[in-house]
Amino acid sequence: MVHSAYRAIGILDSGVGGLTVFQELTRQLPHEQIVYFGDTARMPYGPRPDEEVRRFALQIIDFLQNQEIKLVVVACNTATAAGLSSYREQSALPVLGVIEPGVRAALAQTGNGRVGIIGTAGTVRSSAYEKALQGARPGLHVIARPCPLFVLLVENDLVDTPEAEKVAVEYLAPFNRASIDTLILGCTHYPLMAGLIQKTVGPGVKLINSAREIAGEVKEILTEQQLHHPLRLAEPGYRFFVSGNPGSFEEIASKMLHRRIKAYQVTL
Ligand code: DGL
Repeated sequence: MVHSAYRAIGILDSGVGGLTVFQELTRQLPHEQIVYFGDTARMPYGPRPDEEVRRFALQIIDFLQNQEIKLVVVACNTATAAGLSSYREQSALPVLGVIEPGVRAALAQTGNGRVGIIGTAGTVRSSAYEKALQGARPGLHVIARPCPLFVLLVENDLVDTPEAEKVAVEYLAPFNRASIDTLILGCTHYPLMAGLIQKTVGPGVKLINSAREIAGEVKEILTEQQLHHPLRLAEPGYRFFVSGNPGSFEEIASKMLHRRIKAYQVTL
């Protein structure tokens, strides 16, 4: 039995989106080992019913718990919105979701009280962001729009194409009219196209990247619960698992993380 602090951090997402969280964790916690699971065979989660997303997430948490982890990061807004409280009920480990940290950052950031949210169909349908934002600050003007094709553009490495630009203009036009000053990237895939999103909404809108926010929260929990890895490992181990063919995941992950990534396929 490995003492908890020596264990890894577990991360899950439907695909490559959670790598934005992985990247922030490695920056803010460079000595921690990480086990990543991308459910690429069942991606995208966005259009699926909540109950199904919840079931998938619970299966993955089960798998991760068999990989000697000490904490679970649900690095997927859709899965967080679909059932964070059930994951917490069914796991003995701390389970963190990506919505609360993004909400806190948006509240700290907005000056004019007009906040936009983009996410998958599931996340927008849940109204999880609106509820949390307006619960914390009633009277806040919130506008949310689903951007379902963004996930597919990212997963297929098509972000730098004229088609992506067209899609972005169409999805983001309502925000230009709504005079928001803050836009929550309510899907962990979206930071991978932050350049295009920023260009489309203009420099006056501050983008909130929940990946960055969640890493800070993981750090706090590790400190509070004395779970930081006791050895300052210079090269902590990272393991990547996917449910689909590892090829395109490895390609995107290697490009993004600037190192050769090897992923292993597992069937849940
Ligand atoms: N990256 C995920 C999210 O944050 C899910 C994208 C999808 O599979 O539709 O919502």
